[in-house]
Amino acid sequence: MRVMIGTKTIIDDQVSKIIINLVNTNPKAVLGLATGSTPAGVYAALVNDHITHRTDYHLIKTINLDEYANLDTDHPNSYRTYMNNHLFDHINIRLEHTHFPDSTPFVASFLEQHPVNLQLLGIGNNGHIGFNEPGTPFESSVRLVSLSDDTLSQNARYFETPDQMPKKAYTLGISDILKVHQIILIATGPHKARIIKQMIEGPITPQLPASVLRRHPDVTVYLDHDAAALLDQSLDIYTKGGVALDIIA
Ligand code: F6R
Repeated sequence: MRVMIGTKTIIDDQVSKIIINLVNTNPKAVLGLATGSTPAGVYAALVNDHITHRTDYHLIKTINLDEYANLDTDHPNSYRTYMNNHLFDHINIRLEHTHFPDSTPFVASFLEQHPVNLQLLGIGNNGHIGFNEPGTPFESSVRLVSLSDDTLSQNARYFETPDQMPKKAYTLGISDILKVHQIILIATGPHKARIIKQMIEGPITPQLPASVLRRHPDVTVYLDHDAAALLDQSLDIYTKGGVALDIIA
């Protein structure tokens, strides 16, 4: 695991350039995408790049990490709507190449046939990745889950009233995420500092799903200075524990 610490602007710039480079070198790449506040700046940078350089997405396929259950896909708070608004409507991707987990077996077979080249991740305040909540077995795959109280309160702000927020969602599992070639996790803001410290310095445990990423051979964690604030940068883990730390700005 590599940990890169920098400003949010630098992070959005570097991560978008990694994605653009992948799209240019592998025009048929499969991108694993996340929603939420964290990746919005990366998507804005991809849209700007597409306007300026016409980076070509017409053969690119995407699979999103998760989608609410029992919410119309055109609901303003669906993750489909989020992705259309932030990215898909502004680049030349074909909407039929963009996928979300749902009640059908489609995504499981899609993942078998289309290994994901790069997965973008955020992290929940409770350590979830996708909607794999604390306690999820590392062997889990795509499925319907009940959202934890933490997640319900974290995401209720996006709905007009908290009771409008769905209590269940479809999510890729942890084993699906671990099969991806390359993983980029971004965390920004002081509210992520505690969980980031535990993810990097604490035990690898299903109680903190993101901690399992330390077992993956190609993970880069981008942190702004607020999210990195509690890391004990003198710890041996950064030299001996397989975690490399770099300050980029
Ligand atoms: C969203 C997702 C979630 C978020 C996490 C952080 O598709 O999979 O795991 O990445 O809840 O959300 P934000 O970025 O809003 O802090």
